[in-house]
Amino acid sequence: MGKTYKIAVMPGDGTGPEVVAEGLKALQAAAAKHQFKLDLTHYDLGGERYLRTSEILPDSVVEELKGFDSIYLGAIGHPDVAPGILEKGLLLRLRFELDQYINLRPVRLYPGVETPLKGKGPEDIDYVVVRENSGDVYAGGGGVMMKGTPHEVASQLMLYSCAQVDRCLRWAFEFARGHGKKARGIGPDNTLGLVGKTNVLTYVYDLWFRRFNEIGDEAYPDVEREYYHVDATCMWMVKSPEWFDVLVTGNMFGDIITDLGAITQGGMGVAAGGNINPEGVSMFEPIGGSAPKYTGQGVINPVAAIVAGSMMLDTLGESQAAQDVERAVTEVTGTKMKGMASGQMGYSTSEVGDLVAERV
Ligand code: IPM
Ligand code: MN
Repeated sequence: MGKTYKIAVMPGDGTGPEVVAEGLKALQAAAAKHQFKLDLTHYDLGGERYLRTSEILPDSVVEELKGFDSIYLGAIGHPDVAPGILEKGLLLRLRFELDQYINLRPVRLYPGVETPLKGKGPEDIDYVVVRENSGDVYAGGGGVMMKGTPHEVASQLMLYSCAQVDRCLRWAFEFARGHGKKARGIGPDNTLGLVGKTNVLTYVYDLWFRRFNEIGDEAYPDVEREYYHVDATCMWMVKSPEWFDVLVTGNMFGDIITDLGAITQGGMGVAAGGNINPEGVSMFEPIGGSAPKYTGQGVINPVAAIVAGSMMLDTLGESQAAQDVERAVTEVTGTKMKGMASGQMGYSTSEVGDLVAERV
């Protein structure tokens, strides 16, 4: 018998528990096939618990989570809880406290999945966004003065330290070297594209741009470099997604462009992400949210959660198992599912999970 991985499972709110259950089916099938074990501990964090006990994320749980090999998250967000409370108190707090400084978001169109991009197919939409996940306007710099008066002044600061930029860039260069289009045998080069706004954000993205070139010259001469302004990136993500290989960007731009990317790969039912601390505990999630209106009906698409599980296996070092899960997903999207939208899959949530698990 191989290794045992300790996984904290946080199904969360809304449809989170339904999709996590299907992800776990695929993960257990992969574990049986590749002879490792998953030691699962469930946590009931989320909106329901908050409404019942006013607890969002007890400090003791944060400490416990540091002892796991990985975290598998469903969805956070509850219709009866004001926006921001759970997002900040749970999701963002975990990202920060566990220092998950990389947010890895593949934008990959699977076979059989419809994209709104005319004339584009799986060979065109196949790139990865490395979103910095610890700094930027997310870090809490700024404040408000004279609130509620006509003189109210509000600021949220785009803050980046050189150390934050450097660790993200180095990780992205390594990722491009190991997982770029050349490494995957589908392109002539491994290319890392920096997405910024050097024409206006002449402090923050100047720092990114300088360090991008310095680190690239010094340690990654084999990785091709491109630079794109973020606004232009949005146009090309729609018009010419095949140009991209690995993109790296700050937290806020990364948040925005990865939703655009998600819709080009078939939407929230498909898109998955990893919040990665390369030296610590990482957390994997479907990026779609809790979809309250579909809760409990067995119609939500579990593919994103299953792909998030595959990314978790890869990060744990079980890359063959990870590939098996992703391959099984492509077989099911390519030959079985009728659509990716909730209620339009041609199967129920758990049937999709069964189809994938069988093929693993
Ligand atoms: C995401 C989400 C989060 C973010 C929200 C829910 C705080 O949009 O993971 O992309 O902004 O990072
Ligand atoms: Mn987002």
